[in-house]
Amino acid sequence: MELRVERESEVDNWQEVILIYNAALKQINMKLEILNDEFQRVHRYNPIEHIKCRLKSSESIVKKLKKHGYESTIANMVNRVNDIAGIRVICSFTSDIHRIADMISRQADIRILGVKDYLKNPKANGYKSYHMLVSVPVYLSDRIVDTKVEIQIRTVAMDFWASLEHKIQYKFEGNAPDSIEAELTECARMVSELDSKMLSLNNEILALEDGDY
Ligand code: GTP
Ligand code: MG
Repeated sequence: MELRVERESEVDNWQEVILIYNAALKQINMKLEILNDEFQRVHRYNPIEHIKCRLKSSESIVKKLKKHGYESTIANMVNRVNDIAGIRVICSFTSDIHRIADMISRQADIRILGVKDYLKNPKANGYKSYHMLVSVPVYLSDRIVDTKVEIQIRTVAMDFWASLEHKIQYKFEGNAPDSIEAELTECARMVSELDSKMLSLNNEILALEDGDY
């Protein structure tokens, strides 16, 4: 652990902070599983394909704080880094994304701190996803701690694109050759087309199931 600790007692704090973020991840994960099960019972279909949870490593937290000119203290980590606890929700169709976002927003104990809609406003490279920064209460023995979790919701196809793009940016340390960047942007366009065709095909199938068939 590289985070600077002033007193030995702060080491306990670090362990406690990690425990709290881990608890927040578990809470959101369970809420999503319950919503998915309920949706399956009512509509006979799962909007969520799968869920990935991750806690940011101490190295990445320190790197992010440094990048933004903050000292590596536990207070800065809690106040300045919004994605220590991250959940990625992968779904089949674009229509599932807002459905899931709405179901999360309606939970009484979840507070929405911010939304970035990269579906409506994709990044220049073609990146698409729906990001929510939420706060969820974590119940400890002696207090309740509101804890931030970053939720990213995207389709399987968007996730496929984002994983490859991330790998490429990592390999070229953010300076990928123009030709590769252009190809990635073209792939993002194809991903959007695929998502839209898959959605309309699925809607056609649903219409047949509801009709005479
Ligand atoms: P970070 O400092 O990277 O956390 O970005 P931010 O605070 O401006 O937030 P934003 O919501 O834009 O991005 C948060 C996260 O979304 C990133 O950590 C990535 O996981 C994902 N993300 C955002 N943009 C891209 C992108 O262009 N490509 C890929 N592969 N992932 C992205
Ligand atoms: Mg991040």
